Order: sequence, then C-alpha cells, then structure tokens
Amino acid sequence: MVRVDYKGVTKRYEDGFEAVIDLNLEVKDGEFLVLLGPSGCGKSTTLRMLAGLEDITEGEILIDGMKINHLPPSARGVGMVFQSYALYPHMTISENLSFGLRMEKGENRLSDDEISKRVLEYAELLGLTEQLDKKPKELSGGQRQRVALGRAGIRRPRVLLMDEPLSNLDAELRNQMRTEIRRLHDQFGTTTVYVTHDQIEAMVLADRIAILDGGKLQQHAEPLEVYNNPANEFVRGFLCKHINETVDTANRIFEDR
Ligand SMILES: Nc1ncnc2c1ncn2[C@@H]1O[C@H](COP(=O)(O)OP(=O)(O)O)[C@@H](O)[C@H]1O
Ligand SMILES: [Mg+2]
Repeated sequence: MVRVDYKGVTKRYEDGFEAVIDLNLEVKDGEFLVLLGPSGCGKSTTLRMLAGLEDITEGEILIDGMKINHLPPSARGVGMVFQSYALYPHMTISENLSFGLRMEKGENRLSDDEISKRVLEYAELLGLTEQLDKKPKELSGGQRQRVALGRAGIRRPRVLLMDEPLSNLDAELRNQMRTEIRRLHDQFGTTTVYVTHDQIEAMVLADRIAILDGGKLQQHAEPLEVYNNPANEFVRGFLCKHINETVDTANRIFEDR
C-alpha cells in the first residue's frame, strides 16, 4: 500500500513567488496520476516537493500516512525520471542500471548475484539486453531514456516520479515509449506521479488527471470525466478545446485526401 497525500501544500520561493498554492491532492495506492498544465503552472515544483528536492513552505506531504516534509530524498523511497537522461557517461548501461542498488547500505543491500539478476530482468523488460556493455553515448535517445526509466524502477521505489520524461524524443518514439511506460506500470503497479504539459499524453496515460493553473488545482478526476465535465473555463479551454481541435485536424487531413 503506497498512497500519497498533499495537505494544504504551498510553495513560496525565496523571491516571494507562490508556485503552488494550498494544494490538496490524493494519489491512491497503485494509481497513475498525471499532473497536467501549461508551462510555469507549478507541476515540477509539486513533484520536487514530494521528491525532497524543494522545501515545503506550508502544509504537509504524507506517504502512507507518514509526514515526509523533513525526510531527506534518499529516505523517501521515491525514484525519479527527468526530461534529460542524466546517465553516468563513463559507466556501461549495466553499471548505470545497477548503480543505485550497488550504493545501498545495510539490510537493504542485495547480493551481487541478486543485483545481476535484477539488471538482466530490467534489461529484458526494456529491450536493452544487447546494450548492457555499451556506454550511454553509443545509444539512441530512446534507448537512453529507457535506461533512465530502468534505473528509477530497478530499485522498486515506493513512488515513481516522472517529469516530462518524453519531451526530448521525436513524435513516433514518444508514442512508443508512452505505451511502454503504461505497460511497465500495469506490470509493477507502482504508485506513479507523471508530469506533462501534453493533453493527449495525459489522456492516454492517466488513471486520474490533476490539472493545475497558476499554482492552483483546477480539477482532479478520471480523464473522460475531465473531458466530459470540465470544472471551469480554464479546463474547458486547455484540455477539451485542445483535444477537439486535434481531432478536427486529424479528420480534416483524411477528408482532404
Ligand atoms: N527557484 C525558483 N525561484 C523563483 N521562482 C521559481 C523557482 N523555480 C520555479 N519558479 C517559478 O515557479 C513557477 C512554477 O514553476 P514550475 O513548477 O517549474 O512549473 P512547470 O513545471 O509547471 O513548468 C514558474 O513561474 C517558475 O518561474
Ligand atoms: Mg516543469
């Protein structure tokens, strides 16, 4: 059971700017939650407070009912994937994948055999078996992002966090990786918070969507519920209108042929 709760969370940066304002949000056990909104609306800030990369100004964040405001990132049990791959360039793919496991201390430390087994398992899952002895620079962008996904997942984090992980990939690869991310989620059932500004991506991936604007939560519901019953004009404009226009464009392309 891994649930996450934001309770009255506000983030005020040093210059006084409020990037997240009184956020109340629940992520259920095993849920794939997508944080959606335009650039600058506070998505990354929301995620980074959960990861421990930003202080929480007001309110609290709980993982499984335990307040984590003052826990260091390493003690929170979260795995994170960023837009940039941030792989270790001098290490092989195998070493990149196993790095976090090798750094574990004490009772959490797996044996070397178990680590090798887990690396092979994840390489298989992500189609990287042939790449294990290569260095990151020998891989394509898509393969590198797969390594980043594997590196976050291989430690079996309690919560998996992803911040626009597909933004650097071309459209076809993005589609393919989306499907894979959802497949991995269905397989492991890890509670996931995924940040994107892409409406279609949110609709395809999410169990529920949380839409932010100006640091404030606008709506939190299942994708079709949001689409069919937008809570306000912002959601109608940002999500519904965008999807309708995308569908219209697609239809027009086919009509013209
Ligand atoms: N360190 C900082 N100091 C002041 N303002 C910041 C800082 N980091 C981000 N912001 C501002 O907070 C707002 C939200 O940023 P962010 O959470 O990165 O948005 P998003 O990920 O949705 O694009 C933006 O207006 C951004 O300029
Ligand atoms: Mg961001």
